[in-house]
Amino acid sequence: MPNSTISSLLLHGLPFYTDAQLARELGVSRSTVFRWRRESRIPRRVHRDRLEELLNRSEQRKPRRSKQRFTFIDLFAGIGGMRLGLEAVGGRCVYSCERDKFARETYLSNFESGAHPFDHDINDVDPNEIRDHDLLAAGFPCQPFSVAGVSKKNALGLPHGFNCKEQGNLFFKIRDILIAKKPAAFILENVKNLQSHDRGNTFKVIEGVLKKELGYQLQTRVINAKGWLPQNRERIFMVGFREANDFDFTGMHVKHPDKGPTLASILHTEDGTESCEPPYTNDDELKTVNLEKYRLTRHLWTYLKDYAKKHRALGNGFGYGKFTPDQKARTLSARYYKDGSEILIDRGGNKYPRRLTPRECARLMGFEDPFSIPVSDTQAYRQFGNAVAVPVVTAIAKYMLRYLSKTVDSQQPPLPNI
Ligand SMILES: C[S@@+](CC[C@H](N)C(=O)[O-])C[C@H]1O[C@@H](n2cnc3c(N)ncnc32)[C@H](O)[C@@H]1O
Repeated sequence: MPNSTISSLLLHGLPFYTDAQLARELGVSRSTVFRWRRESRIPRRVHRDRLEELLNRSEQRKPRRSKQRFTFIDLFAGIGGMRLGLEAVGGRCVYSCERDKFARETYLSNFESGAHPFDHDINDVDPNEIRDHDLLAAGFPCQPFSVAGVSKKNALGLPHGFNCKEQGNLFFKIRDILIAKKPAAFILENVKNLQSHDRGNTFKVIEGVLKKELGYQLQTRVINAKGWLPQNRERIFMVGFREANDFDFTGMHVKHPDKGPTLASILHTEDGTESCEPPYTNDDELKTVNLEKYRLTRHLWTYLKDYAKKHRALGNGFGYGKFTPDQKARTLSARYYKDGSEILIDRGGNKYPRRLTPRECARLMGFEDPFSIPVSDTQAYRQFGNAVAVPVVTAIAKYMLRYLSKTVDSQQPPLPNI
């Protein structure tokens, strides 16, 4: 296969393979695939042959697999975690909405722009104007319900939950769209705490609207992304179908949280196999992490240790989290940009630990290389901390697929293992 074909193949992506899958198929590291894609390295003969084989195989699958299986809208789109997960199983996005200027920037640099409407504030949108779709997807803002969000708002004497005028009522905007557009299904995501917020009353209202008022068959499940990603991240997923069917959310296989990848799978390799990605890694031989930027200062590290000690003495569990590459991390939060204390990388001995780079945060959430990160570190940390775990959405969507009956072709070949 000529080199030009290889790079164009990799540039446009073998249609059904992510970088990680390609790396697995070819027995190389993900960073090697990344370098091929960037054309900073040419695959060896044996890998070219294997790529050709994969290409032939995917070409055979192409006409059927590229068939759109369902359409969806991406509300509170953030940087497109839901979208990546749904596109992976044949979903086609027909409408997006995201208010934050920086999240929009990231979204637009990763997904084609101009192909469909991309609105700003959902409050300014007339639900009737939204395009018809099979599935409504929304990870609606969770701060009014999250443990951290509630205590912060309490401390500031601000209302939370549905009483939070700014964000709490956005759920009712979802309701308005479901009423106007009547999609066959929806998938909603939020923090686990949504269930217990206001002693369960918030959740009762949500259930009441979706089931009783709108008549959707609703099922919910708390899923931990830890089996797919090296991070403890429990989120509640609400799946609804307009027509009655035998969908059983409890029957979906969830990967065991103790199995699956460890942090080593998302950390920069620092062995020269990755391309340099400034400002995250240095342009040295091993492409080491830019410690000047991501290593904690002595001052901050001392502060965090003293803080943790004080709270331990009081019987509180609060403190930093320091992890080695063979472990899994705590939940990445949108506040990671502050000091990164919830996930610090142990550098051995008495060395000061370092924070994750935004690239590592992307991988930690399942946004595979080369997901574009055009924004500052602060914005990137916020965006990944707010995002949904992509492989979990893919797994749920795959499980929902046969119930999205209208557009699903039962003759489709099996999907690749996710
Ligand atoms: C929990 S995040 C969703 C993240 C997304 N699932 C992802 O993977 O990136 C909620 C998003 O809703 C956006 N948002 C909040 N209020 C909004 C509004 N009124 N209109 C549109 N988007 C809004 C926020 O900017 C934020 O990006």
